[in-house]
Amino acid sequence: MANNLINNSRVKVKVKKGAKSVSSRRWLERQLNDPYVIAAKNDGYRSRSAYKLIEINEKYNLFKKGQAVVDLGSAPGGWSQVASKFIGSPNKGKIVSIDIQDVEPIEGVIFINGSIMDEEIITVIKQKLASKADLIISDMAPHASGHKSTDQTRSLLLAELALDAAIQLLKENGAFCCKLIRGKGEEDLVKNMRANFSEIKRFKPTASRKDSAEIFLIGLNFNNQDLA
Ligand SMILES: C[S@@+](CC[C@H](N)C(=O)[O-])C[C@H]1O[C@@H](n2cnc3c(N)ncnc32)[C@H](O)[C@@H]1O
Repeated sequence: MANNLINNSRVKVKVKKGAKSVSSRRWLERQLNDPYVIAAKNDGYRSRSAYKLIEINEKYNLFKKGQAVVDLGSAPGGWSQVASKFIGSPNKGKIVSIDIQDVEPIEGVIFINGSIMDEEIITVIKQKLASKADLIISDMAPHASGHKSTDQTRSLLLAELALDAAIQLLKENGAFCCKLIRGKGEEDLVKNMRANFSEIKRFKPTASRKDSAEIFLIGLNFNNQDLA
């Protein structure tokens, strides 16, 4: 479904020289020519990332109607919109989303403006969720510093915190999906996931830019020994 929506055969848009700096012209040209940006606009999604989650779901069937879902790093809301559709919200299921940035309200989505680094955040999510979660999704990403290894280290920390959150919030056989900028620490993170899920997958959706080192780690069938 995701790729059928995308039309790659468009004529490339060029931005006039002189009006902007070289880097902002390149950024604007990339946006204007990006089929996922165009599709997101047409389909009413707030982010091109929405198509990454759609592709992940096509491959691993993470969503089911009526699920309780936690969306970590949800601004501007594309993944929450997709999750909402897949679980049948607002009539069925529940979504709790968090971000350090504000998110315009989405019907049926409970938004918490907070950081995954905040010690109280899990308690707050638990209160809003009022049950264990079926699925934890994290598209959290650090604000890009432009320094490759700094950004990678920060991405790893966010992924580790997302996994900690999943361990505390998931019900038995629940699933986890999180973004990671590949590099140092990836294998340790995967090892930690193996201790908590019966199957681990690594997936790079077509919608993920080829020049980005991001990957999505997916944990299926949560089976942590300490499950109550
Ligand atoms: C790529 S964006 C998420 C896009 C979103 N999935 C969508 O489809 O609209 C990454 C998000 O992670 C958030 N983020 C970064 N650090 C965070 C933290 N410590 N706690 C919660 N969210 C964080 C950022 O504010 C940003 O909105």
